Amino acid sequence: MKVFHTINELRNELKNERKSGKSIGFVPTMGYLHEGHVSLLKEARENNEIVVLSIFVNPTQFGPNEDFDQYPRDFERDEKIALNAGVDCLFYPTVEEMYPNELKSTMKVTKRVDVLCGEKRPGHFDGVALVLTKLFNIVQPDQAYFGLKDAQQVAVIEGLVEDYNIPVKINPVPTVREEDGLAKSSRNIYLTEKERKEAPVLYKSLQKAAEDIQNGNHNAEQLKQNIINTIENETSGTVDYVSIYSYPDLEPINRTNGKIIIALAVKFSNSRLIDNMIISI
Ligand code: PAF
Repeated sequence: MKVFHTINELRNELKNERKSGKSIGFVPTMGYLHEGHVSLLKEARENNEIVVLSIFVNPTQFGPNEDFDQYPRDFERDEKIALNAGVDCLFYPTVEEMYPNELKSTMKVTKRVDVLCGEKRPGHFDGVALVLTKLFNIVQPDQAYFGLKDAQQVAVIEGLVEDYNIPVKINPVPTVREEDGLAKSSRNIYLTEKERKEAPVLYKSLQKAAEDIQNGNHNAEQLKQNIINTIENETSGTVDYVSIYSYPDLEPINRTNGKIIIALAVKFSNSRLIDNMIISI
């Protein structure tokens, strides 16, 4: 595995690989790698000749009240995980390398952003779109991999690639789960013992909703209410939101039809968990 700190060095390396006809799979991350990232790298490894991983905590996607400096970082640990996952090129630029000058233009994501977690993070997806446009131009991958745990981010990226004709295939990768169904997350360790036992109810309530839809209940309001009732009755968490939207457009719907997302966020004492399910009807 080669580690690159500059755009030029990475570009030169990838130019040669591309010349010899090798396919490039790309996994962009902000580091502090976990099993979710490893599942993306596994997909990339299985389907490409060259795997590029980027680790860059992107300041432009942090809001004024979100602490960019406090974001967890552990490059040495990440480097080992990347090596074990079969990464060929690890791109680890500084903020100065990625943003050397004041920007003379910017990105504004206008759709799919004012709902779900994006509602409370104005401007967040503008920063994600900006850094990914830069990274896609730098790496020029054939395929890129993103986790469906953040299905809204996947929807925004699919929109970006479509709008700007970026020649990369976006591969959404299913959420990695614990044996009891709880979506894997670095935040799970902040759950108390009691909350950890309750937390699989989140996924079970999504599965129940999917079952209800299959059995003919297409009333979005009723489906949402059933999920809220289950979570309120069976956990000590507080529901932040339960939403049903069309996917990937993330438009409100009254009746479930076509491709939809059921998404939820639940606050526990020291941790806020999110989960979702995408269903085609
Ligand atoms: O999901 C993330 O880690 C980030 O939003 C991404 C896609 C790497 C862009 O900085």
